Amino acid sequence: MEIDLTGKFALVGGSTDGIGKAIAIRLAASGASVCIMARNKSKLEKVVNELDRSRNQKHKFLEVDFSNYNLFSKSIKYFFETNHIDILVNNTQGPEGGSAIEKSIDDYQSAFDLLFKCAVKTSLLALTNMRDKKWGRIINVASISVKEPLNYLVLSNSLRSALVTWSKTLSVDIAKFNITINNVLTGYFNTERLKQLNSKKAQKLGINISKIENKIKDTIPMKRFGNPEEYANLVCFLASEKSDYITGINIPIDGGFMKSL
Ligand SMILES: NC(=O)c1ccc[n+]([C@@H]2O[C@H](COP(=O)([O-])OP(=O)(O)OC[C@H]3O[C@@H](n4cnc5c(N)ncnc54)[C@H](OP(=O)(O)O)[C@@H]3O)[C@@H](O)[C@H]2O)c1
Repeated sequence: MEIDLTGKFALVGGSTDGIGKAIAIRLAASGASVCIMARNKSKLEKVVNELDRSRNQKHKFLEVDFSNYNLFSKSIKYFFETNHIDILVNNTQGPEGGSAIEKSIDDYQSAFDLLFKCAVKTSLLALTNMRDKKWGRIINVASISVKEPLNYLVLSNSLRSALVTWSKTLSVDIAKFNITINNVLTGYFNTERLKQLNSKKAQKLGINISKIENKIKDTIPMKRFGNPEEYANLVCFLASEKSDYITGINIPIDGGFMKSL
């Protein structure tokens, strides 16, 4: 299937590494102009220069910190005063790991700002542009933890569930404008984030990281972690006109890991 995003402008969160970077690369390779977002300016400059420009795409970057909601909200409001986007990918760092018994109310508040408020704020601003054009795509990078909570990721379990439920509710209001919103439920993917989580677990248990990795791979029917490029293919499809009739759903990409239907 040929996916052509020529003439579309995409805004992609957390896109100098891992899943977000792979998405930015894939959308640009399909013809979209892309604005990438992250905290580190030199990484942003490097990645923006790696994006495909063969169809005259105009890429840019925005330096933001999703963990500082007040500052983020000012920067993103300013961005939308001069930019009109067609495709929004809400993606950011994962929240701190930890179990339900360990986390304080303040931890939930920070995770709420990071995972819920930043995505909702950006989506509402993007919707103004999309409603005028009567077309738009919003894709949330979520996690399998919204359907099958993971014991050591209570913040992710709780706050991502809030975002996907909000998205389902919003999908009903925006369908008439040909705007879709979908959540991708992320399984285990080969990225820095996964390495960090596994190395913390390994340290805690005093064992080698490869032992942890192999144990997880054993629970995945495909016996391996996903590659960010595989993830980006799905997002590219959801960002395109080929997915016109798909909205308000959770799509797992997990090598068969989830047990529920
Ligand atoms: N990888 C997995 O197996 C997996 C599984 C389930 C869910 N997820 C979720 O998927 C999302 C992406 O994960 P990933 O594995 O691709 O992560 P990653 O490899 O660590 O990449 C994170 C990206 O986000 C940027 N970023 C981090 N903190 C930020 C902040 N406060 N403000 C703005 N940008 C920020 C990073 O750049 P800077 O550091 O320069 O800002 C980087 O570009 C995360 O929410 C993660 O929890 C991942």
